Amino acid sequence: MVSRVIPVENFDLVIFGGTGDLARRKILPGLFRRFCAGQMPPEARVIGAARADMDSAGYRDFVAEAVREFGGDRACEDGTLAGFLERMHYVPIDARGENGWRELVALIRPDVVHAFYFSVAPGLFGDLAERLNVHGLTNDASRIVVEKPFGRDLEKARALNRDLAAYFDESQIYRIDHYLGKETVQNLMAVRFGNMLFEPLWNSQYVDHIQITVAETVGVGGRGEYYDKSGAMRDMVQNHLMQLLCLIAMEPPSKFDPDAVRDEKLKVIRALDPMDPHHIVRGQYDAGDDGPDYRTAVGDPRSRTESYIAMKVGVSNWRWVGTPFYLRTGKRLKARSSEITVVFKALNHSIFGEQEDHRNVLSIRLQPNEGITLGVTIKEPGPGGMRLIDVPLDMSFADAIGENGDQTDAYERLIMDVIRGNQTLFMRGDEVEAAWAWTDPIIQGWEARGDVPKVYESGSEGPVDAVQLLARDTRVWRKVAP
Ligand code: BG6
Repeated sequence: MVSRVIPVENFDLVIFGGTGDLARRKILPGLFRRFCAGQMPPEARVIGAARADMDSAGYRDFVAEAVREFGGDRACEDGTLAGFLERMHYVPIDARGENGWRELVALIRPDVVHAFYFSVAPGLFGDLAERLNVHGLTNDASRIVVEKPFGRDLEKARALNRDLAAYFDESQIYRIDHYLGKETVQNLMAVRFGNMLFEPLWNSQYVDHIQITVAETVGVGGRGEYYDKSGAMRDMVQNHLMQLLCLIAMEPPSKFDPDAVRDEKLKVIRALDPMDPHHIVRGQYDAGDDGPDYRTAVGDPRSRTESYIAMKVGVSNWRWVGTPFYLRTGKRLKARSSEITVVFKALNHSIFGEQEDHRNVLSIRLQPNEGITLGVTIKEPGPGGMRLIDVPLDMSFADAIGENGDQTDAYERLIMDVIRGNQTLFMRGDEVEAAWAWTDPIIQGWEARGDVPKVYESGSEGPVDAVQLLARDTRVWRKVAP
């Protein structure tokens, strides 16, 4: 089955920070793949804007290199690349001054969608919004795209929201959480709300607990300076894991429209229990074959920032009270593996007599090998009585949809949603603030207590204490496997 590509309307996309790492690795290669898929209108314009002194020809060389390096298997032949490059322009710009703005205004056409991607440090968001306003670019056709980190606490997030709201309506602000653009994450909603099977069981009466794991093999790499000020809590939990939790826990929205979905997610965040410090395990990776230990990697021998976190989270509402959500994420773990697992309760009576504890387990794999598996209990084949075994009903997306199925990267999907004006997969300002309001006291508690993360072996499944976190509740983590 080949995915259906719906062309979007004509647009001018300005990438502030157009020569940065995100533009090079994600935004430009993503746009190229959409161009190859025939989704970009022939007249669409992409304008890189950054401090670097370069002309459009130089930028085209930069884009060509980015596409060759990160365009993926489907990078098409040079002829197509040339067609894509024709759409590229560049303006050297000063985000806080006057330089370059007149040239930028001249390149932007009045009668198309205007998207401004703020791929820059959050400290510049307010300045850029103000400059766009001064130059008459904050009209109804304009939207802005902003990246995480969206603040580092509630106060900063509020200030950013205020800065943007001074010139843009909420309907024009697209806060990216790239996890919402992942194919399987959207499938989570399709599975929940497109099938009769799951929703009636989707509550604390039938669900024993839920696990959300985002395990990475990479360390902090060259991002040590940023990461050490953030840690796994700010870098992953406050946004990506929180969004996953919301999609699993939310009530069915009345329709699949941006505010209906985001209203329901917000209610989940507001229903999260304050965290009990005993329900959190923090870790820092040790040196391993792949590189130095965390503290050496970030250049601070006394760093107390966590590269791993596991937590037991409660959602106090009618649907979920009593069903814990166990979240964990970390770097330098055994395998790159992101998975959401819904473990159903055991039967309250087995007609087959003494049997082991058989439970249905639904796993939604986000990466790699995207797919959904439902563990069901059946009779072990053969004579000799009724013995039960658990087998997986497996739906690997690659098998079910085929090699030519949709392999769209999260960023390219989200950028096209910006052009279409669809905010469903973007975070609303109040959601981000609510997530920080929950996160802030946890981080403040660590700081006040001088909490020191546990060291865990590089290439392992994380600190031993995380195993105990579940063992205390007579539960076990799913294996971290690729
Ligand atoms: C980013 C974090 O938001 O997500 C990184 O800042 C992390 O630290 C990355 O590695 C993980 O994204 P993905 O798509 O590779 O799972």
